[in-house]
Amino acid sequence: MNGFLNWIEQRIPMMRVANMHALQYPAPRNMNFWYVFGFLATIVLVNQIITGVWLTMSYEPSADGAFRSVEFIMREVDYGWLLRYMHSTGASAFFIVVYLHMFRGMIYGSYQKPRELLWIFGMFIYLALMAEAFMGYVLPWGQMSYWGAQVIVSLFGAIPVIGPDLVIWIQGDYVISGATLNRFFALHVIALPLVIVILVFLHIIALHEVGSNNPDGVAIKHKKGSLPESEKTPYKIHEYYTDKYDIADDVVPFFPHIVLKDLVAFCVFLAAFTYVMFFAPEMGGKFLEHPNFEIADPLKTPEHIFPVWYFTPFYAILKAVPDKLFGVLAMFAAIGFLFALPWWDRSNVRSWRYRSGLHKVNLIVFAIVFIFLGYLGGTPQEAWKLIASQIATIMYFGFFIALFLYSKNEKTKPVPERIPK
Ligand code: HEM
Repeated sequence: MNGFLNWIEQRIPMMRVANMHALQYPAPRNMNFWYVFGFLATIVLVNQIITGVWLTMSYEPSADGAFRSVEFIMREVDYGWLLRYMHSTGASAFFIVVYLHMFRGMIYGSYQKPRELLWIFGMFIYLALMAEAFMGYVLPWGQMSYWGAQVIVSLFGAIPVIGPDLVIWIQGDYVISGATLNRFFALHVIALPLVIVILVFLHIIALHEVGSNNPDGVAIKHKKGSLPESEKTPYKIHEYYTDKYDIADDVVPFFPHIVLKDLVAFCVFLAAFTYVMFFAPEMGGKFLEHPNFEIADPLKTPEHIFPVWYFTPFYAILKAVPDKLFGVLAMFAAIGFLFALPWWDRSNVRSWRYRSGLHKVNLIVFAIVFIFLGYLGGTPQEAWKLIASQIATIMYFGFFIALFLYSKNEKTKPVPERIPK
């Protein structure tokens, strides 16, 4: 067996890569539960790909057949209902874990130098994920699929000069039709998953190049020769890391220490996921919206059109601005501002544990405003909600501007050299 493994290893370095990026990866020993969401996002990604492949086997990407084929999957295909609910629950679970994963990055300053590119790759994943989810939602060809696509695609029409032609180009027709459904299908099942998988790969490579941050924001890599032998890690860490740096005894190898923590998280996640999947797959119309159980009808507009919950914060920002073009610009700016987070924050201290009270308040208010915007964008419009969403939109952007202003001369606590025992 060993001979065979060596034969393979000499031709493709599987064990070397596994040791470098998983088994002997130096992980800070103070990683807490906030650090499980990257792993959970990977699990959900795998779930989406596998269940997606099986759904595709029975799905028909045409305006005539799509809705019927989804009903067929639900009623006739063996375990088709299970595959569909795994996929639809997985879509919402993806955004839950990714939002928590991003918020972790914000509270511990994981986007700061030297992890700016890691954050940017993450943001590209987030963008690709939004495009993927939007196109997936069109595929069952229900009322919300159709009208949601109508609202979103028509936004591009607000772009001066090229807008109207761009809409026709995206739709592949003068209206949203079977041609649109067909191209969204192609993008949803192959192009975007490929992009997401490649981006996740780059995300991990970028992470391992700079090393994981941690809840104290303390560096675990030190200049070669700067640590006495007694302070270096006693564990077997891959030479890829120890050759270039002195790795402090603040780390543990990823296997088995972090793997075990991740497994606990996986069990909890699985319990919650299966509970929703088996007992509340529609989640009161939040994960699968009720109008989508009716076939798409271009002549009948649903009473209220909302995107799925994970888009609603941005939808509220769009709606808060009375002018369509400026609304679209505000919505894209909301995502653009997040991209630039490493440059809004000018502090040298990463973790909120050592930052000012003002920073903690700013972050918590931002999270509340984001959730509130989500509520406003996902419920029927009323007069007070317009004002509320305008105030919340200003507060959303205010978070970044305030951060830029106070972070340069912020009063921070001294950060320890090493992870506190
Ligand atoms: C499919 C989606 C994603 C997957 C599979 C994924 C995967 C991972 C994994 C496995 C880790 C290491 C474990 C951990 O720290 O949790 C990680 C770290 C990280 N991710 Fe993601 N990620 C995704 C999306 C994002 C997004 C959208 C962002 C932000 C825009 C982001 C930003 C980060 C950052 C900053 C770190 C380093 C955190 C630290 O060391 O403190 N990721 N990611």
